Amino acid sequence: MSHQTVVVLDFGGQYNQLIARRVRECSVYCEVLPYKTPLAEVLAKKPIGIIFTGGPNSVYLNDSPHVDPAIFEQGIPVLGICYGSQLMAHNLGGRVTAAEEDTAREYGKTKTYFNTSCKLFQGLPTEGITWMSHGDYMEKVPDGFSLVAHSDACPNVAICDESRGFYGVQYHPEVNHTQHGIDMIHNFLYLVCGARGDWTMGDYARNTIDALRKKVGDGKVLLALSGGVDSSVAAALLSKAVGDQLTCIFVDHGLMRKNEGDEVEAAFKDRSLNFVRVNAGERFLGKLAGISEPEKKRKIIGEEFIRVFEEEAKKIGQVDFLAQGTIYPDIIESGMGDAAVIKSHHNVGGLPDYVDFKEIVEPLRLLFKDETRALGRELGLPDYLVNRQPFPGPGLAIRIIGEITPEKVTTLQDADWIFREEIAKAKLDRDIHQYFAVLTNMRSVGVMGDGRTYDYTLALRGVTTTDFMTADWARIPYETLDLISRRIVNEVRGINRIVYDITSKPPATIEWE
Ligand code: XMP
Repeated sequence: MSHQTVVVLDFGGQYNQLIARRVRECSVYCEVLPYKTPLAEVLAKKPIGIIFTGGPNSVYLNDSPHVDPAIFEQGIPVLGICYGSQLMAHNLGGRVTAAEEDTAREYGKTKTYFNTSCKLFQGLPTEGITWMSHGDYMEKVPDGFSLVAHSDACPNVAICDESRGFYGVQYHPEVNHTQHGIDMIHNFLYLVCGARGDWTMGDYARNTIDALRKKVGDGKVLLALSGGVDSSVAAALLSKAVGDQLTCIFVDHGLMRKNEGDEVEAAFKDRSLNFVRVNAGERFLGKLAGISEPEKKRKIIGEEFIRVFEEEAKKIGQVDFLAQGTIYPDIIESGMGDAAVIKSHHNVGGLPDYVDFKEIVEPLRLLFKDETRALGRELGLPDYLVNRQPFPGPGLAIRIIGEITPEKVTTLQDADWIFREEIAKAKLDRDIHQYFAVLTNMRSVGVMGDGRTYDYTLALRGVTTTDFMTADWARIPYETLDLISRRIVNEVRGINRIVYDITSKPPATIEWE
């Protein structure tokens, strides 16, 4: 694919994925690499610019993350953000120290003054709010650098050496709280790095379709179609690329939401692709019987998926490629590269070692969720498919805490159905990006009629998010929650208590397992 690339070197800051998104919003392709990536590997990407992210460490400590200093001798522009700017200053002869209390140490929204003759701030107002989060500051700026922004407390908020294309900012331009932050990133990309803006969904679709055609040749492709956004977009992309060499297999693992199996079948049956539905509910529930550990559930489901595909593949004849709708956050959160394992998403970490296919194709692995939706629209998929809220591969298995039984699946399906129905009726389904019910493993005492009950607690979860990497809990009006709670307790047997989850991500995750 012929597009320019920016590399984001990850030093462990909390907003690193957001930086990548901002770069892509500026129509420039970008990849996040761990800071330990050997310089040769970074250079092999032929980056037009490099961005150092923030991070929790102090550059002057020996065990803090560092870079190969040769990175500054490649003629490639660098933008350092927070820790990244201190790292650049530290490497190029400046001095970074712990800020004294109440002086140069800054957290939160901070009034900042900019020198707009610096390319980074060109065309922007001379003052504005920035989002700071730093306990260290650049006491001495390296030779050749000028100070180009300051705040009331700190003289060194931004530095630059325009002759070498080096820029450092103490604040976070990638977060929305920084006014014109995206414009500063845009300036770095276009005025400093010479970006052309060649990352558009139209280009991406065309390039990917061409690349898929070349890769697949006249081979056969099997796609795991769940009916969710990701696999539906992957299906559309692959069917444009290789037509009827593609077979889509929908494995109904018996852990779908109420009526979902039939809905998926109805949505895809009449499209011009080979669609096969496999009803494997009993098989999956059998394998999951007695299992309560979340990662084990995920691995079992991931493995069973692959087995079902292999069996279906054999019926079709020689299948060369297994396609999956894996997207970028799945890869990051499954602990690829330097990131910690949060949970193994069934379509990444759960893959068994032995897979009886020549190769796995994942045409969406570079995309964030909203980019996937945009691609879906580009490919002409209908809105109801593109805007579907995400549903995890392991389905209700990871929304039933503890052991899974067929009865619990039915209970959860019925409760979740009511929740979704009422959210739609309240016209909140577009504002809340993901909402679902979780059957907890906890039972408590209640009173119904004149009798004592000892039944399960159901948790409701609703989140707002742009990329599903971070999320806030949705402020569902009390009246709606009240209605949902009363309906579920009255209509679904086995539940006598409803709670609403009010944790954001982080520290929680969106799903409960
Ligand atoms: P978490 O729970 O990790 O979820 O905050 C982030 C998003 O990913 C979805 N999710 C999955 N999607 N396979 C998937 O395809 C999985 O194993 C999986 N686990 C979580 C989750 O629903 C949310 O949208």
